[in-house]
Amino acid sequence: MLKERIRIAPSILAADFTRLGEQLQACEAAGADWIHVDVMDGRFVPNITMGPMVTAAAHRATSIPLDVHLMIVEPDHMLEAFAKAGAKRINVHWETCPHLDRTIRAIKALGCDVGVAINPHTPAALLSEVLPLLDAVLVMTVNPGFGGQELITGTLNKIRQLRAMISATGQAIDLEVDGGVNLETAATVVEAGADVLVVGSALFTERYSVATGMQQLRSVLANKKPV
Ligand code: DX5
Ligand code: ZN
Repeated sequence: MLKERIRIAPSILAADFTRLGEQLQACEAAGADWIHVDVMDGRFVPNITMGPMVTAAAHRATSIPLDVHLMIVEPDHMLEAFAKAGAKRINVHWETCPHLDRTIRAIKALGCDVGVAINPHTPAALLSEVLPLLDAVLVMTVNPGFGGQELITGTLNKIRQLRAMISATGQAIDLEVDGGVNLETAATVVEAGADVLVVGSALFTERYSVATGMQQLRSVLANKKPV
């Protein structure tokens, strides 16, 4: 199903947390479509970041919908807390959910949109049964755990495969990519079929403002329409 434009989801993992509200305001002024919230538990991934408390603070600071990416084991215990914190979409990892169908239904029952994330080594085909239930697929283009990594180009083929799988459903399922998306790689992932780009370190940097970062991204995507 055709979407009008490529959407950008700044990842606050790379933001300056001493002035998170200000940075969220800058995202809002620059027309960000989602705010991506990276939740890490030190178990599923080798890093610990934020939880429902910071998510709720972000929700108070902006009206941009929150796209919560749960990189945590046993996410079922935490779904309600993130829904209450203001998550618009909750993404769980395929690798952490032995009863993925149940988890997806639990997220929907909380009134949130639902996405499933897959690690670079996880094949697209493993999503075939659940795809029609989803609002989004989140393709990890780096191994999750840290911002500022280089995009793994082997994942581009998987983006193409997922684009074909999504088209076959006839549903408006977002194909979101996460990791190593910057001015050099953004057009390539869109050509492969992505329509939502998570961008962390290429947006929150001391080298330029969020406004400039968003403008530069939009200009490299200027002639790109969602596939
Ligand atoms: C990585 C996170 C990403 C991260 C992306 O585990 O899921 O969302 O913030 O950061 P960049 O854009 O710097 O690769
Ligand atoms: Zn993420």
